[in-house]
Amino acid sequence: MAAAVEQGICWSHERVQSVAEQGLLEIPASYIRPAEERPNSRQSSSLKEIPVIDLAQGGPDVSAQVGQACRDWGFFQVVNHGVPLELLERIREIGAHFYARPMEEKLAYACRDAGTAPEGYGSRMLVKDEQVLDWRDYIDHHSLPLSRRNINRWPADPPHYRSTIEEFSDETSKLAQRLLGFISESLGLPAQFLEEAVGEPSQNIVINFYPPCPQPDLTLGLQSHSDMGAITLLLQDDVAGLQVKRNNEWFTIQPMREAFVVNLGDMCQILTNDIYKSVEHRVVVNGERSRYSVATFYDPAKTRLISPAAPLVDKDRPALFPSILFGEHVATWYSKGPDGKKNIDSLVIE
Ligand code: OGA
Ligand code: NI
Repeated sequence: MAAAVEQGICWSHERVQSVAEQGLLEIPASYIRPAEERPNSRQSSSLKEIPVIDLAQGGPDVSAQVGQACRDWGFFQVVNHGVPLELLERIREIGAHFYARPMEEKLAYACRDAGTAPEGYGSRMLVKDEQVLDWRDYIDHHSLPLSRRNINRWPADPPHYRSTIEEFSDETSKLAQRLLGFISESLGLPAQFLEEAVGEPSQNIVINFYPPCPQPDLTLGLQSHSDMGAITLLLQDDVAGLQVKRNNEWFTIQPMREAFVVNLGDMCQILTNDIYKSVEHRVVVNGERSRYSVATFYDPAKTRLISPAAPLVDKDRPALFPSILFGEHVATWYSKGPDGKKNIDSLVIE
C-alpha cells in the first residue's frame, strides 16, 4: 500500500523486542556485525573509570574538572546535578511500563517518518536498507522547542507519562545549559557563550530498550557513533553496556543510578574549534538482562548555522571547520550512517 511505503521504515519494520521474544538460539543475520565491529574482536574492554564530577561544589573548580574531562575523555558523569532523584526513578518507571505493554498498544505510537526526525516508537535509525541492524528499540519524544512538542504523540498510559516527560525536559534542559556554562568557562569564554551559540534548543528525549540477546558477541545494541548535536545527557540503569572509545580501546562506563553520563556532540567539536571533541561510543548487549537508558539530546535547531567560536580562532589556530547548517549534518548522518566519526572527520579543513 502506498501509504505504508510512504510511512517507510519506522512504521513497518520489526521491533527487536519481538525478535528477542521468539526465544531464538541464533540471532537473524541482519543483526550480525562484521568481525571487526564485534564487541570482543578488538582489545577486550577495560574498566577504567571516566571522571565523576560533583556539581554541588559549584564554581571554578567544577569548570576546571569539566574542562579536564572534556580533554581526556569527552565523557564524564555528574552527581548532585540538581535533577530530583525521584524524577529519575519516575522516568525509568514509565519507560519500563511502556515496553511491557502489548506490541499492538506500542505500535499506536510507532514512528511514521523515515529520515531525519524519527519521533515515536521504532528500532531502525537509518534511511538505507543494507545496514546491519542495532539490537535496540527506542521511543523518541520531541520535547523542545514547544513548537515541536505534540504530546498526543506520546503514550497516554500511565496517566503521568506525559507530565513526567515534560518535567524531565525542563530539568534536563536546565542542566544542559549549566553544563554548557561550565564548558564555556573552561575555555575562557563567558558562561553564556556556548548556550547562545547553540541558540533555541531542539531537544529530544529517547527511552532506549535493549532486550537480552542470545548471541551478544555477534551484535551491538547501538553501533559506534558520536552524537551529532551539542550535548547529550544519559541516564543508565544498573546494567552496564555503554562503552566509550579512547586511544582505540573500548571502556565500559560504570552504571551509576543517580548520575547522568554527559558527552559532547559534533556541534561542540565545531564550536570549540576542535579543542574538545565528540567521542565515539557504542552499546554492547548481554545474554541475560534487559537494559534501559534515557538519552536527552540538547541540540541546535536544524536551521542553525554552526561555526568555530571567534575567540577560539586566531592565526596560530585557524578555523578547523567550515560553517555548517546543523540540519545538513543530521541529514548526512541518517543517510550515510554514523560509521564512527566519519561524517564529522570529513568536515575538517586540512
Ligand atoms: C545514544 C546513545 C547510549 C545508551 O542514544 O546516542 O549513545 O547507553 N545511547 O543507550
Ligand atoms: Ni550516542
